[in-house]
Amino acid sequence: MSSFLFLFHASLTVFLAVTNCPVEAAKEFRVGDDLGWRQPGLKDTDVYSQWAAGKRFHVGDSLSFTYKNDSVLEVDKWDYYHCNTSNPIIDFDNGKSIMKLDRPGPFYFISGAPDHCKNGQRLFVEVIDLPPIVQSPPPFAAPPEQYLPDDSPAPAPSPSLGIAISITPWSLVMPLIITLLALVACSSAL
Ligand SMILES: *[C@@H]1O[C@H](CO)[C@@H](O)[C@H](O)[C@H]1NC(C)=O
Ligand SMILES: *[C@@H]1O[C@H](CO)[C@@H](O)[C@H](O)[C@H]1NC(C)=O
Repeated sequence: MSSFLFLFHASLTVFLAVTNCPVEAAKEFRVGDDLGWRQPGLKDTDVYSQWAAGKRFHVGDSLSFTYKNDSVLEVDKWDYYHCNTSNPIIDFDNGKSIMKLDRPGPFYFISGAPDHCKNGQRLFVEVIDLPPIVQSPPPFAAPPEQYLPDDSPAPAPSPSLGIAISITPWSLVMPLIITLLALVACSSAL
């Protein structure tokens, strides 16, 4: 029992330590990199989906659009796929527009210039939530015997506890797995 509790506490300590991973500062992505925001060439109509493909966008990040004689419209999914410029949610044409990604979920952008969207000047990004910065400790389950009256018979070990105690490899491996999971959670948040 005590070894199980020790392992449990050790795992939890490791888990809390590694889940407290550094949270990255918000990023500003320059849409299209050096290309900027412009109508792509005939052979590059998927340039913006390629640009977005390797990136992770988090709530708090922003997109920077730079362009000339063009505009950027945030639209809904339907208007994105139909290149319909008549109902923008947000409409910018000042040459350098910063779009704050202020919520999780999809964001759709198209050019407002005639035919530019049809020719590939449109961008879709999926924004994901960052894990909360302050991790509140998980509620602890008190050891069951604490709640038993003094004169009650000793409780039979519960099946799950029995498994945890008897399967030693699992008990040993568990902290490792938790650590790995937490590391994966951290790195995927980058
Ligand atoms: C932008 O539009 C103006 C007037 O419509 C034109 O004179 C200028 O050449 C255009 N610039 C570019 C980079 O297309
Ligand atoms: C764009 O959307 C508006 C309003 O939803 C609609 O009236 C219009 O016909 C659409 N235009 C095109 C080209 O689909």
